[in-house]
Amino acid sequence: MNEKTMDLLTVRTSGQWHEYFLRNAAQRLEVPWEQVGQGDQGLGAQADELSHKERKAVAGSLQAWQLGETSDGRHLLAAAERYAHRQQDPLFIEVVRLFIREEQSHGTELGKFLDVAGIPRIRRNWGDSMFRAIRYCLPSMELWATVVIMVETLALIFYKAIRDATRSPRLRPLCNQILHDEVHHIRFQYERLAILLRCRPRMLLQATYGLHRVLFSGIVIAVWLGHYRALRAGGLTFRDYWQGAWLRMRFAWLRMDPSRYCWAEPEIGRGSAVVLAADP
Ligand SMILES: [Fe+2]
Ligand SMILES: [Fe+2]
Repeated sequence: MNEKTMDLLTVRTSGQWHEYFLRNAAQRLEVPWEQVGQGDQGLGAQADELSHKERKAVAGSLQAWQLGETSDGRHLLAAAERYAHRQQDPLFIEVVRLFIREEQSHGTELGKFLDVAGIPRIRRNWGDSMFRAIRYCLPSMELWATVVIMVETLALIFYKAIRDATRSPRLRPLCNQILHDEVHHIRFQYERLAILLRCRPRMLLQATYGLHRVLFSGIVIAVWLGHYRALRAGGLTFRDYWQGAWLRMRFAWLRMDPSRYCWAEPEIGRGSAVVLAADP
């Protein structure tokens, strides 16, 4: 085996993703919820969960992201069904169902944390409404995966900042679990995008990346405007945040570039038997 062959990576098939999501659902990090409410003060756990300073910095952002993680995924599922039928890959629908379930588990757990910390849940938020509106207008897998990978890229920065901004024994492991999940979600999106973009002529592909950059700039700024308090509390300046966002997104762009893959027919449409050339 030569050096190049050794560097090739394999893209997961729908079967492998299905297995991954099932396994991941059964292997969650432990969050010590059972300790809540213990002790003499009853509601003492609420008061102690976050310091006044921490609460001021992260409460609003946690409310907004909790809402964002609770989408029912109807529109995504509809797009996935249409796509899966075209690709003759019915298992992909199941995979997307599991993906949605995992996102909803983030919303459930964050909601539990808000309850424990005595922070009310919200039903509306401008950022959430904006992203929902964008997602609902996206009839295709490609557009959907594009927006989601951008938001998930920023989720990596956001949840790390939230974790670093507090000493809560429940919020920190919860953030670690979400961070672990989002890394795999990003891979799930960029692999799908590589498959979706594989037949696009090079010039159109460059135009696509150009549009991505415009969209991503807007999303990066919107997330900073909505969550700068929490991000700063997590130790980030705008410059750190901006650089971190583009660094992560550049990695995603590199991995969704179909020219980095060796496509093996005839399984190409299903993302099976696909190998990814390692980054230069
Ligand atoms: Fe999530
Ligand atoms: Fe995600």
